[in-house]
Amino acid sequence: MAKSSIISSILLLSLLTLTLIPKTHASFAEPISKQDLGIKALDDKKTQLTFYFHETRSGSNPSGIQIAKAKSTDQSSTRFGSLTMIDNALTEGPEPTSKLVGRAQGMHGSVDLNESALMMVMNLYFLEGEYNGSTLSVLGRDSLSASTGELPVVGGTGTFRFAKGYAQIKSQTFDSKTGDGVVQFNVFVNHADGSSSSTGSGSPSDGKSLGSTPSDGAPSSSQASLSKLVSFTSLFMIPLLYFFIF
Ligand SMILES: *[C@@H]1O[C@H](CO)[C@@H](O)[C@H](O)[C@H]1NC(C)=O
Ligand SMILES: *[C@@H]1O[C@H](CO)[C@@H](O)[C@H](O)[C@H]1NC(C)=O
Repeated sequence: MAKSSIISSILLLSLLTLTLIPKTHASFAEPISKQDLGIKALDDKKTQLTFYFHETRSGSNPSGIQIAKAKSTDQSSTRFGSLTMIDNALTEGPEPTSKLVGRAQGMHGSVDLNESALMMVMNLYFLEGEYNGSTLSVLGRDSLSASTGELPVVGGTGTFRFAKGYAQIKSQTFDSKTGDGVVQFNVFVNHADGSSSSTGSGSPSDGKSLGSTPSDGAPSSSQASLSKLVSFTSLFMIPLLYFFIF
């Protein structure tokens, strides 16, 4: 075999090795332990929260505004097809002047052809104490004909990572002329006991406060150093082979 074809074969092999070695950045998905996440269990903590939800439709600064409706909405006895965006205050007590503890940000839409019912899609964004910056996501059905109801809590962030639970809701006041209303929320939620010092900002760097939490999706250190070693070896092999052949 000619010398040049041997060299080309070796070069090709080296290049192949380089492309085949694992990359040092994170793999798409890999199993992770509770220890790596810095939590003991997914539902270690149980928290009950009680607050009041204020939706203001009247006045010059409403917290709930209709953003869409269907052509038939005005003819519908249940306002089917109407969609409202909300940024409602959550307060400690039922009075609007009571201390603000968070905001309910999301949407509700009229979803029932036969009775008045809403689909609620919202994030409860807390501003108070250790819950400051943490959120709970709520997705459920609110029957407006009943004075009480229940909404599922489907997830959370910050202090409420891995949250699951429910909110019991109870109408306090409702003005049918203006649409203004106050609803009591009594939320029961299971969630992970991560770091109590977590600010719940939700940013990936937030994980630093969890001590053993790996940086955002990085591979384990042994895997990373192995692939680095392989990659360095391959890089040095090419000049070395040249040196021996010529
Ligand atoms: C709901 O209302 C629609 C339209 O008015 C009607 O056709 C349907 O039978 C009703 N369904 C129920 C379960 O009442
Ligand atoms: C909540 O966090 C924000 C941003 O970090 C901060 O400006 C605010 O003072 C905090 N509020 C409370 C009540 O701790």
